[in-house]
Amino acid sequence: MSRTNPFDPPPDYGEMREKGPVALAAMPNGEKIWLIVSYEHARQILTDPRVTACRSDPGFPVVLGMPNRKLMHEMSKKLPALLSMDPPEHNQHRRMVIPEFTVKRVRAMRTRVAEIVDQCIDDLLATPRPADFVQAVSVPVPTLVICDLLGVPYADRGDFSKHTGTLVRRDSTEDEKRTAVTTLMSYLEELVVRNEKDPDDNVIGRTITRYRKAGPYSRKHMVGMAVLLLNGGQETTANMLSLSVVTLLSYPEYMAQIKQDPALMPRAVEELLRYFSVATENTGYRAAIADIEIGDVVIRKGDGILVVGSSANRDSRAFIDPDKFDIHRDSQHHIAFGYGAHQCLGQHLTRLEMEIALDAVFRRIPELRIAIPEEQIKFKYDASPYGIYELPVTW
Ligand code: HEM
Repeated sequence: MSRTNPFDPPPDYGEMREKGPVALAAMPNGEKIWLIVSYEHARQILTDPRVTACRSDPGFPVVLGMPNRKLMHEMSKKLPALLSMDPPEHNQHRRMVIPEFTVKRVRAMRTRVAEIVDQCIDDLLATPRPADFVQAVSVPVPTLVICDLLGVPYADRGDFSKHTGTLVRRDSTEDEKRTAVTTLMSYLEELVVRNEKDPDDNVIGRTITRYRKAGPYSRKHMVGMAVLLLNGGQETTANMLSLSVVTLLSYPEYMAQIKQDPALMPRAVEELLRYFSVATENTGYRAAIADIEIGDVVIRKGDGILVVGSSANRDSRAFIDPDKFDIHRDSQHHIAFGYGAHQCLGQHLTRLEMEIALDAVFRRIPELRIAIPEEQIKFKYDASPYGIYELPVTW
């Protein structure tokens, strides 16, 4: 299904929601999958013990961008990741990193994130106009932040960004994906091994120490965690920054209100997250491990499921006038970061990065504008997470 405009999910989801909470659809490989399109049932499925997140479960759908099931199983075996674990294993591993991403811990990063943002804006201002906002600000801000947190040298970004990019692109081949995972794993394994010998005061070092205190330590799990954090921490937030700039610039009345009352920025960020729900067509995959009755449909044991958060976040039963972008609404209950046990670990960090970056960009460059007509902006109609490839701006 395709979007018909850059600001809304494909209209098919709206039609599906009218008909019922779930819809049967076909994945690109022809396999059938249950799409959960309503808000209420999205939250129900994401907290239902009768579903598994385990990618090697035979009923688990081949996720978009994964060339085939064999590769998906191979990758999840090689690289254990939180996203693919069920309780109690999931809780055991998630507990090891939770302390790194609490609201309190993230708040303490404010000064460092602000420095990174200022540096990127300095670089943007030093670039001849028009400049690409994606390459100057959207990509480097979350990349620098996650590199800082993990202790990954930013100078290596050329290498790992190529591989994290290959992993999210839908058109990469089986060999390209395999190479990307193997290279990222060995790159991060080196970092993990260094920290095993002499733990740094960063997320990797502290998590290894926490693992060791809790019981037997597994290098494989630590590498899986590092790959997930490096991966999850970049593309999603980068795309949200670009989409947010385009959207806010097209609502001058909201910009004026935020300027007058900066306390409105966190609300605006929450609404932007709901409105775009950039990650929720490539996450939220599950498989039923028992029959589940939902509305007047029975999802059978072994069936594949995709919870479509971008549809749920436009459900009129959960949000009044859901297709309207409204920074004054209460959108806090959106599920752009998922819901339940697997809810995004990096959500507070994303909020912080977005608030600081958007505030600084519009404060420091009040004349910022898009340098091309909106219809020429290269939106990522063909990629997950959704976003923008290139955004020429001037001032
Ligand atoms: C706009 C930014 C982001 C969005 C929209 C987003 C979205 C999501 C969603 C929807 C899930 C749940 C997937 C599921 O239930 O299957 C998730 C999980 C996760 N996210 Fe994010 N994410 C963002 C940023 C980040 C950042 C910055 C990090 C790391 C610093 C991160 C790390 C993770 C991790 C580790 C998980 C797995 C949690 C678990 O399985 O227990 N994310 N994210």
